[in-house]
Amino acid sequence: MENTELEQMVDTTDQWIRERTGIERRHIAAESQTTCDLAEAASRHAIDMAGISADQIDLVIVATTTADCVFPSVACLLQNRLGITNASPAFDVQAVCAGFVYALGVADSFVKAGNAKTVLVVGAETFSRILNWEDRNTCVLFGDGAGAVVLTASDEPGIHSTHLHADGRYEELLHVPEGVSRGYAEMQQQAYVQMRGSEVFRMAVSKLSEVADETLQANGIDKSELDWLVPHQANLRIIKGTARKLAMTMENVVVTVQDHGNTSAASIPLALDVAVRDGRIKAGEKLLLEGFGGGFTWGSALITF
Ligand SMILES: CC(C)(COP(=O)(O)OP(=O)(O)OC[C@H]1O[C@@H](n2cnc3c(N)ncnc32)[C@H](O)[C@@H]1OP(=O)(O)O)[C@@H](O)C(=O)NCCC(=O)NCCS
Repeated sequence: MENTELEQMVDTTDQWIRERTGIERRHIAAESQTTCDLAEAASRHAIDMAGISADQIDLVIVATTTADCVFPSVACLLQNRLGITNASPAFDVQAVCAGFVYALGVADSFVKAGNAKTVLVVGAETFSRILNWEDRNTCVLFGDGAGAVVLTASDEPGIHSTHLHADGRYEELLHVPEGVSRGYAEMQQQAYVQMRGSEVFRMAVSKLSEVADETLQANGIDKSELDWLVPHQANLRIIKGTARKLAMTMENVVVTVQDHGNTSAASIPLALDVAVRDGRIKAGEKLLLEGFGGGFTWGSALITF
């Protein structure tokens, strides 16, 4: 969906969206497609690229806020679709736009504790289903998508560290205020994203820069040693602000927000996929991944790819 299509739906312009967010287009799932469909496609690509068979996977984690159904989890649906019948654990992680780094952190803990060897970590969302398409403050920002990675236990350094944070005091700045336990009737009325954009913007820039510093310090490395920043793709101005604080030029920052919009938990693995497949990110390079989302939740991962 191009920005120009949104001009027909709400009082906005292509120019406003580009200038304020960097977004040019986003993808919207077909009516018949669910989050698990997107997760399955991304997972199959990741499994092919990793050169493993699905039955080697002994943990499936899906980061999502837009599950197909209340339960089972998307991870259980996905495990079945992929034909994994080894009874290994599968569960969803819900940390909105920080979901992928949260899922990576959980997966890393399982591997480091010796409880998993081959983990499928997916970020998948159909945010279009929780948007008010009459609210220009939000509907121009988000898109649907999925990305996936396979982690395998190894003696080589892969994930150096993950750093996860939350501060629930800010729940009302970015939320879908209704849900199952608050009643289905209300859910019909308000089950869409509501956001106080400029406040979210300020917090995102400040927390992302804090967590970047925390990650560098924890690993005793200087920002000049980072090869790539792979940030959550919410807004080009937030991405540029974070890059500036890390003294990184935009050549070393993976930016896909122009083509995907904000795909929440899917945005980091989608960006990673683009830059790995086009040959920019190479084996052995140091990557800083970081995300920020509703909750607020935020976090980072330092990786040798
Ligand atoms: C949403 C966001 C792009 C708005 O940009 P901004 O520069 O903060 O703009 P403001 O909210 O101050 O609004 C400026 C004006 O544009 C208007 N506006 C808002 N959305 C608009 C749209 N889609 N088209 C045209 N005008 C719009 C506002 O109504 C406001 O008008 P006013 O000055 O007459 O009141 C920006 O705040 C943002 O990206 N926030 C973070 C969002 C985010 O990342 N959320 C997810 C985190 S995971």
